Order: sequence, then C-alpha cells, then structure tokens
Amino acid sequence: MKKNFIILAIDTSCDETAAAVTADDRVISNVVSSQVELHRKYGGVVPIIAQRAHRERVGPVIQEALKRAFPKILNTTYHIPDTIDAIAVTQGPGLAIALEIGIAKAKELSRKTQKPLIAVNHMEGHLLSSFAKNAKGNGPFSVIKPKFPILGLLVSGGHTQLVLMKDFCQFKLLGETLDDAAGEAFDKLAKMLDLGYPGGPIVSELAKKGDPNKYPLPIPMQKSKDLNFSFSGLKTAALYLIKQLNEKGIKNYHYDICASFEKSLVAALMIKLEMAIQRYHPKQIVLGGGVVNNLKLRTGVRKVAKKYHLSPFLPYSKNLDTDNAAMIGIAAYYKANEGKFVNVLVALDRLPNLNF
Ligand code: KG4
Ligand code: ZN
Repeated sequence: MKKNFIILAIDTSCDETAAAVTADDRVISNVVSSQVELHRKYGGVVPIIAQRAHRERVGPVIQEALKRAFPKILNTTYHIPDTIDAIAVTQGPGLAIALEIGIAKAKELSRKTQKPLIAVNHMEGHLLSSFAKNAKGNGPFSVIKPKFPILGLLVSGGHTQLVLMKDFCQFKLLGETLDDAAGEAFDKLAKMLDLGYPGGPIVSELAKKGDPNKYPLPIPMQKSKDLNFSFSGLKTAALYLIKQLNEKGIKNYHYDICASFEKSLVAALMIKLEMAIQRYHPKQIVLGGGVVNNLKLRTGVRKVAKKYHLSPFLPYSKNLDTDNAAMIGIAAYYKANEGKFVNVLVALDRLPNLNF
C-alpha cells in the first residue's frame, strides 16, 4: 500500500458526531461534536434525539475535520479533496438509528468521489486507539514496537471487554460484561445519587475525597473462572445502601460511596485482567474506552501489569479515550493494509450488535 494513506473517518455510533482525517497511523484532525447537553436532562442517551443531532451535524463536522487537515486547499465550499484515499465509517456496535446516519453519509461520499469504503468495528477503534500517533508521528508505539499477542482491556459506556490481539486485524474476544458496562455502572450510580450526567467523571472526582473502605461493596464475579464481568449486582448493592443511609438520615455519604463503588468496580476489572494475563501470556497491554480516564483504574492496571513485567499503553490524548473518529481512521488503516475494503456490490448495513 502507498505511504501516507489518507482516510476520512466517520463515527456516529452513540451520542458523539465525529469525523477525523488520518494519514497512515497518524491523526491529522479529530473533530467531535458532543451531544451531552441534549441528553443530560434525560439522564442517558435518547436514540431519536441522537439520530436527529447526527443528521444535522455530520456534514459540518466532516467539513471541519477536512478544513483542519487541509487548511490550504479547502475554502468555504464543501468538497472532498483528491488527496483522500479512502472513507471509513463505523458499522457497529452502537445505536442502530445513529449508526445509519454515518453509514449513509460515508456511502454518499464514497459514491460521489469514487473512493473506496472501509467498514470499522467501533470496539476495534477503541482497541487500536493506543496505536494512534499525533501528526508528527509521536505516540505510545512510536519508539516501542507492538509485540503480539497484545491484551486489550476496553472499558466504555456501552462495553467492557477483554480482547486478545494476535496481530493487527486478528482478534479474539476473551470476555465481556454479561449486563451493564463499567461506564454505564458509574453513570447509574451517579443517577442514583443525583449527581448529573455523564456520571463517570463526577463519581471519580468525588471518590478522590472519599474513604474507599467505608462501605464494603461486593466485588462482582470474583470467584467465576471465566473472563466475563457483571456490574448489575454492584449497582443493586449500592442502591440498597443509599436507601438505608437515607432512612437513617445520614448526610454527606456521597464521597465515601463513590470511593467504595469505584474500589469494587476496579477490583473486579483487575481480577479478570490478571486472569487473562496468566492464561494468555500477552507481551503488551493496551487500554481503550472512556473509563480509561479513571485514575484508580489506571493505577490498578499499572500495578497488575508490573507484576508480570508488562507496561500498559494508553492513547496519547484524552480525546482518543472517549468516542472519536480518529480511532476509526487508525483501525481502518490497518484494515486497508490487508485489503479489507467494502465490496461495493454488497450493501453496507449497520450492525448494532457487531462483536469481535
Ligand atoms: O468510550 P465512551 O466515550 O463511550 C462509549 O463508547 O460508550 O465512554 C463513555 C463512558 C461514560 O459511561 C462515562 O461515564 C465514562 O466513560 N467515564 C468515566 C470517566 N470518564 C468517562 N468513568 C469513570 N471514571 C472516569 N474518569
Ligand atoms: Zn465507544
């Protein structure tokens, strides 16, 4: 494949309208239009509102990503520069009616420009986000080379997964959540405590001032032999605890509950991470997804990894942890390297439940 392969990537899988331009594994521009404000009053993502916002925003967001990547050749008129080699889009998993907006746009642009299309698994994007380099070519893997197998821990608002990368484009799902995702659990705790949305960052901020040992909460699935997770029991335990504390008239328990909840949730993740290391002997570990912003999680992963002489790799910027299209461009680059383009004769459909 030619060097400097330029991809325009689009992601509309959930509540962020995102577009990016990548050149090989480098991020040239990365634009995200967040819908958090639209969904806040509902305490969660409302699919129909997300769809409407994606429809309104996808064009301008793409335009902005192109403008930032090609400030000299793009004037105010909207067009796809000839230098673009391919168009990538998230096919799933995600909200069906949100995914279809990005897919329709990508198809339209591909048809108009005759550029090949690459369909990307959103979770593959999170998994490969640590491989992204900045425009100058600096990133976690710019000095150290990838050594397979690589173990990926993906923790986002919709997913919690352990994935083994045998190579680029060769994945094995080792375990995943059986109910709520880690980020979703944080968000639900925040809702119970009436802290606001999205809850993860608020809970982790309050947890810093709390005592993690004040309210021992269960560590889910710690005895199970598989590599799956479950967070709904932890959520229910927290709900009962909050009820009890309210009945007793106890005040200002938020800090301690957040800290105790975070402790149990991170412990549950670490038990399975360690189990996966023992079973699959990875040479490196990568982290992805919005919950990677959680400092207790990062410390936990570093501690477990150190025990096995491993060091975890994280995306070079916070903007690559949460939903974005740059990670889709990076994943698409590795797919393009293997000739994995969408056959134009086959319809490209949204796959809301796409898995590894
Ligand atoms: O990856 P992401 O942007 O979206 C999905 O693909 O789902 O992750 C968003 C999730 C939300 O649930 C949010 O509450 C959580 O990541 N999150 C955090 C933190 N920052 C974001 N959870 C815990 N601690 C944080 N610091
Ligand atoms: Zn995501």
